[in-house]
Amino acid sequence: MKIAVAGGTGTVGRHVVDIVRERGHDGVILTRSTGVDLVAGDGLADALAGVDTVIDVSSTETLSDAASRAFFGAVTRNLLAAEVDAGVGHHVALSIVGTDLAPYGYYAGKLLQEQLVAAGPVPWTILRATQFHEFCAQLVGRMKVGPVVVVPRMQTQPVAAREVAERLVALATGAPAARAADLAGPRVERLADMVRRYLTGAGRRERVVEVPLPGAYGRAMRDGTLLPRPGADLGVQTFDEWVAAVPAAV
Ligand SMILES: NC(=O)c1ccc[n+]([C@@H]2O[C@H](COP(=O)([O-])OP(=O)(O)OC[C@H]3O[C@@H](n4cnc5c(N)ncnc54)[C@H](OP(=O)(O)O)[C@@H]3O)[C@@H](O)[C@H]2O)c1
Repeated sequence: MKIAVAGGTGTVGRHVVDIVRERGHDGVILTRSTGVDLVAGDGLADALAGVDTVIDVSSTETLSDAASRAFFGAVTRNLLAAEVDAGVGHHVALSIVGTDLAPYGYYAGKLLQEQLVAAGPVPWTILRATQFHEFCAQLVGRMKVGPVVVVPRMQTQPVAAREVAERLVALATGAPAARAADLAGPRVERLADMVRRYLTGAGRRERVVEVPLPGAYGRAMRDGTLLPRPGADLGVQTFDEWVAAVPAAV
């Protein structure tokens, strides 16, 4: 199969591309570094020639409803239109557990993405996953102020990005399945504790300051809204096992 991976250089996208290729498929990467701007739509028509399935794991860094909706709205509309023109038969999108229960901030864009995919012209599959173990490393990169890392107060049940990628490729090589079973990790964790363990494991000395984010967005992070519901599939690798493999895992 020829499988295009939108966001194929990202945290989960790199694993998706590796697995696609390990399984003998032809993997095409759609990112700005490969000449495709998903927001503007530039380069998409050429890149999708002969593609059977698209896996969308693109993302943007924002906490704003408007910016998130603008990004995921544009990316999804551009991808679906180009997929119709190219005759792509299956669109697979990665979303987040609890997005519909917490349609605020970044999650507002994820909910719009889900709605566009479900109402769109291309047969589809949506997988919702919880936060990746790698989310810690992303936070440290984004929320470090001098020797301090500011971490939102959050309950999460994190899963290894590699396990999410394996599930995405399995779904992409099967028939369109609409909403797939959610995928979460094996244990509930407190995000600030995860970041502390990640930093310690990596031999780093930054101090972690946990802050409750204001508003409905912050409340959803704190109150368990983003934890998996009964019936979710659970990954195998614990956060501590992942940390033990850092930095090779990031
Ligand atoms: N991180 C988590 O814990 C988590 C948990 C559950 C679900 N998810 C979902 O998983 C998906 C991937 O997240 P991630 O954390 O792996 O993302 P990421 O590491 O931030 O990677 C984002 C990817 O999107 C690409 N991209 C951004 N803007 C682009 C543009 N205008 N045109 C083309 N490519 C663009 C980037 O490549 P270039 O910058 O080179 O273009 C990069 O490959 C997202 O939809 C997210 O909501 C994430």
